[in-house]
Amino acid sequence: MSQLQGRRILLGVTGGIAAYKSADLVRRLKEAGAEVRVVMTRGATEFVRPLTFQAVSGEPVHESLLDPQAEAAMGHIELARWADALLIAPATADALARMAHGLADDLLTTICLATEAPIAVAPAMNRVMWAHPATQDNLALLQRRGVRVFGPGSGDQACGEVGSGRMLEPLELVQVMAGMFGQPLLQGLHVLITAGPTREPIDPVRYITNRSSGKMGFAIAEAARQAGAQVTLVAGPCTLPTPAGVERVDVETAGQMRDAVAERATDSQIFIASAAVADYRLDTVAESKIKKTGENMQLTLVRNPDILAEVAALDGGPFTVGFAAETDDMHAHAQDKRRRKGLDMIAANWVGRPGSGFDADNNALEVLWEGGSASLGPGPKTRIAQELIGLIAERRQQQGN
Ligand code: C5P
Repeated sequence: MSQLQGRRILLGVTGGIAAYKSADLVRRLKEAGAEVRVVMTRGATEFVRPLTFQAVSGEPVHESLLDPQAEAAMGHIELARWADALLIAPATADALARMAHGLADDLLTTICLATEAPIAVAPAMNRVMWAHPATQDNLALLQRRGVRVFGPGSGDQACGEVGSGRMLEPLELVQVMAGMFGQPLLQGLHVLITAGPTREPIDPVRYITNRSSGKMGFAIAEAARQAGAQVTLVAGPCTLPTPAGVERVDVETAGQMRDAVAERATDSQIFIASAAVADYRLDTVAESKIKKTGENMQLTLVRNPDILAEVAALDGGPFTVGFAAETDDMHAHAQDKRRRKGLDMIAANWVGRPGSGFDADNNALEVLWEGGSASLGPGPKTRIAQELIGLIAERRQQQGN
């Protein structure tokens, strides 16, 4: 389970252009299982409307210290007590200065004084403002008081300059926030994951493939990364963006996928095979485009290696997790497949049911191991992935792998 599962994060948004990224940050924190409430400064509302944050957080946005209605719903002291952590992102130079000097002239700075929860800031500003001794002194003062400072990163800035002062990306912030809540589940482990389909060429223009968007595997890679693992994702042809901090190896055929996995399997502690690997490939691939001639045509196919079974058979190999797409008698078929392939765990899903499986954003899994099982979902693949990672970490520990 993600370190952020059930954590209450109070997000303070101050008036910088990076405030637009904070809307995505709310979404990402929620995907990681956190409850999020948002406090905006007046400056922040000049950049992004509170309604945006209300929509993504699903909660009323808090703006004013002296709004009797808002205070009645949840006052500044209640908000300060509610939070397990306070994250200020973006934190402008002005916000850092006011915090450093203990001002309490608006809702956010008042909460900073009133809360006993840990406080983190994600600074975002022009590189010269960031480097200014006033900003650096304020920051040093805050750090001495235990405020965590996440970032900033460097690169292109909204002001057209290049340098240090960019707010960390939302996913990076989710990761560092998770780190505030104890040791991540997969800290120090290497997780190898296959995802997406494979493509077996027939001739230069045609191929055999499987239906697979790669969404589940990519979500698992992201969840494993969030859980502190070093992640390598061996991906068949799919257009999904690579999750932050994940090493991606693009392959096309099952043969290439097998080679990429074989190279890395012995150095991995967990192997998760979510790819829809083509079971067969062409005996011989035509060098030029095959012409339409007769009414019928025959292609000779040969078996592809079973990547997962090969890894499971390794002496002292990683904890292996396979997937099974079933149309009937899911439990029995999946458990049988797990034993046949010698897997530690198998995650089975129904195929052909609306709202789960291929290409969908949601999924439901039945996860089986020797002597036990768990049902995950239905729910978003991102959440299912986090829950699966939680189960894997737990089972692996119990097996003493
Ligand atoms: O036997 P079946 O194809 O149903 O097994 C599915 C599981 O095996 C999935 O985890 C899939 O990624 C993996 N697999 C593999 N190599 C193959 C075929 C399947 O790794 N050639």
